[in-house]
Amino acid sequence: RSGARIERLALSRFTTLGVGGPAEVWFVSDHAQLHEAMQAPYRILGGGSNLVIADDGVPERVIRLTGALAERDLTPDPELSDEEQLVTGWVGGGVPLPGLIRTLQKLGLSNLEGTVGIPAQVGGAVWMNAGTRYGEMFDGLHSLEIVTPGEVRVVTPDDLPWGYRDSGIPRGHIVTRVRLKLRRSTPQEVLEKMTLADTARKGQPKMKTPGCAFKNPGGVSAGRLIDEAGLKGTRVGQALIAPEHANFIVNLGGAAAADVHALLDLIRGRVGLPLELEYELWP
Ligand code: FAD
Ligand code: EPU
Repeated sequence: RSGARIERLALSRFTTLGVGGPAEVWFVSDHAQLHEAMQAPYRILGGGSNLVIADDGVPERVIRLTGALAERDLTPDPELSDEEQLVTGWVGGGVPLPGLIRTLQKLGLSNLEGTVGIPAQVGGAVWMNAGTRYGEMFDGLHSLEIVTPGEVRVVTPDDLPWGYRDSGIPRGHIVTRVRLKLRRSTPQEVLEKMTLADTARKGQPKMKTPGCAFKNPGGVSAGRLIDEAGLKGTRVGQALIAPEHANFIVNLGGAAAADVHALLDLIRGRVGLPLELEYELWP
């Protein structure tokens, strides 16, 4: 055996919504352990900040990247870096994004500051191309390592059909690590941009939530549409459509996945336009 740590755990503790039953969690810290973990049906869990997981949990193994796959090497590559641009070493898919964004700000390195406030891991944020109107993950990527049960590939952003909240990477392909492409700026300038992106979040709820429930259809705020449908403050069980921003569902404490599903159905039935879910429902 390659030695991955395996534990049966409640997934609620890995999600920002705080909902989710048990599963066999595989903590993998290198490529050999990951290869072993991928030999049976699996799911990959990042920061758990976009997930609504069933109270019964999931039958598949749940893979979490730790150890070497959650480390970051921000050393500039001398061949690809100059006074204007810096290409880093490998940054693990399991690295928490908020800490990385803070470090890049202190170093005066720009391109990713628009993603401030997204409580993801690097791999999950890349897989979704998480972002805000101030920038998204693909603005700061030089290359990506992607692992499938059969192979390890390194691709560049140009190889992928990425777009709004979408990298084009198929589900189940694991982003194990990335190299960042950053613009040399100053801590002050990066901080100013971060503050702009942060200010845009002032109206978002501070409670347990997986972020926005639906993608914005054609650039229109889904939150505004749900608000106009009169649904702010609607509650099912312990789940609530946030009074602060209608595209956020929050857990008042002890919510069940079914409570959240019921609110999602209610929204779909009441908003005139077809809405595409941003949350991912497990199973
Ligand atoms: P998870 O929620 O763990 O997983 C989401 C999906 O990514 C799953 O399909 C999972 O299998 C897959 N995945 C996870 N890790 C990997 C990996 N290493 N390789 C391949 N696939 C992987 N999103 C935005 O885009 N913009 C925002 O402004 C924003 N604000 C938010 C604010 C709050 C308070 C919260 C709670 C969420 C917010 N989100 C936002 C949503 C969420 O943070 C993003 O969708 C993020 O990309 C999810 O990443 P994660 O690591 O938490 O992934
Ligand atoms: N609005 C309402 N009522 C609401 C919510 C919003 O009228 O309940 C109005 C606002 O007043 C504003 C407009 O809609 O005029 C846009 O709202 P906001 O600035 O909050 O932006 P958003 O489009 O609702 C998007 C992203 C967020 C991201 C913010 C800030 C999506 C689905 N949402 O929200 O991303 O943080 O911009 O950049 O793209 C996420 O994806 O999980 C997420 C939180």
